[in-house]
Amino acid sequence: MSRLNNRHIILAISGGIAAYKSAELVRLLIKSGAQVQVVMTSGAIEFITPLTLQALSGNPVHQHLLNPQAEAGMGHIQLARWADLLLIAPASANVMARLAQGQANDLLTTLCLATDAPVLLAPAMNQAMWQDQATQDNLQTLQARGLQIHGPAEGEQACGDIGAGRMLEPNELLAAVKAQFSQGLLDGKTVVITAGPTREAIDPVRYISNHSSGKMGYALAQAARDQGATVILISGPTQLAQPEDVTFVAVESAQDMLEASLKTGSSADYFIATAAVADYRPTIASEQKLKKQNADHGLTLELTQNPDILTTMSNQHPHVIHVGFAAETQDLILHAQDKLKRKGVHMIIANDVSNTDIGFNSDNNQVSLITSGGVEDLPLLSKHQLARQLIAAITRIPH
Ligand code: CTP
Repeated sequence: MSRLNNRHIILAISGGIAAYKSAELVRLLIKSGAQVQVVMTSGAIEFITPLTLQALSGNPVHQHLLNPQAEAGMGHIQLARWADLLLIAPASANVMARLAQGQANDLLTTLCLATDAPVLLAPAMNQAMWQDQATQDNLQTLQARGLQIHGPAEGEQACGDIGAGRMLEPNELLAAVKAQFSQGLLDGKTVVITAGPTREAIDPVRYISNHSSGKMGYALAQAARDQGATVILISGPTQLAQPEDVTFVAVESAQDMLEASLKTGSSADYFIATAAVADYRPTIASEQKLKKQNADHGLTLELTQNPDILTTMSNQHPHVIHVGFAAETQDLILHAQDKLKRKGVHMIIANDVSNTDIGFNSDNNQVSLITSGGVEDLPLLSKHQLARQLIAAITRIPH
């Protein structure tokens, strides 16, 4: 899998004849798996049409800083936060000057100030403009601020001059972008995650379930995807949006979740069970809605134990690395160590659900990692921060 898979790249195009090469660059970035948003200055649209870039990137092109319509969609701050990397190609002498001054007088310069992402510049201009002291001073200022400059190359220019000022070729810029992203920890791996609650039908309108929100499993799915994994998320009903670029399998009951999980067993490298599976289901799910009995009679439901999905997976697919969660209210570590052995898994992530600040519906969680090698306590973290740490910990499990 490409290391640009799902990376968010803003390609900002300023005015210059080299803008025609930016179309090819968008194509290469998309082909490498990146998601691309294109920003164009007013100068850029004199050289290449926004429609071309829209067609190639699959997204509307961003042109204006204060356009109410654009701000209602992905506004400039949102766009700045969205980016994993901002590449300005071509970067004209004018753009370099405005950036060196810290101006925010159009969308491109504003994004550069607003983003935390690395900013790469691919200068392109006439060789005399490049050599001019003003441009060279601006270059030094930008480099000192940590912006990365790629090129320009030497050679024959569109104006007939020969010298330094040509924009690097699209494949060279693609390589520069790729070099910004280290190899994902899970490149080429398939990670299967169960998440959310299960619903066990009593009749067509009623069920037994629990309060699991699914947040931990969904956060893990995103973190595994960001590390380059192919992710299959098998989820019971939740209120959460499906994570992007993840294969999503919607299930209801524990039995459905087991069947969906077993299907993935031969292709999975990791199986992470975050689902709060109902331990029991009604032995018979009534085909018709149950009617109320007379007031003297209660209702007795006979329950049957559900299969243990994690144990079944670890028995049937021993080549897969299995990770389970243990939600406990007492003797956390002892119960978790017992589950590690009983379920035949490589790691149990244990959390104390008697503390209402963490676990279940909370956005935060504090866990201990239990393996045959010992116990590691992690600090209180948001579920997204924790997910990133857990994915890193899981990749360290010896296979
Ligand atoms: N699990 C599972 N299938 C089940 C029950 C649990 O795959 N039928 C998984 C959970 O997703 C979790 C781990 O097993 O990763 C432990 O779940 P937990 O509810 O804490 O454990 P139980 O086996 O149900 O044990 P107990 O209820 O006795 O604590």
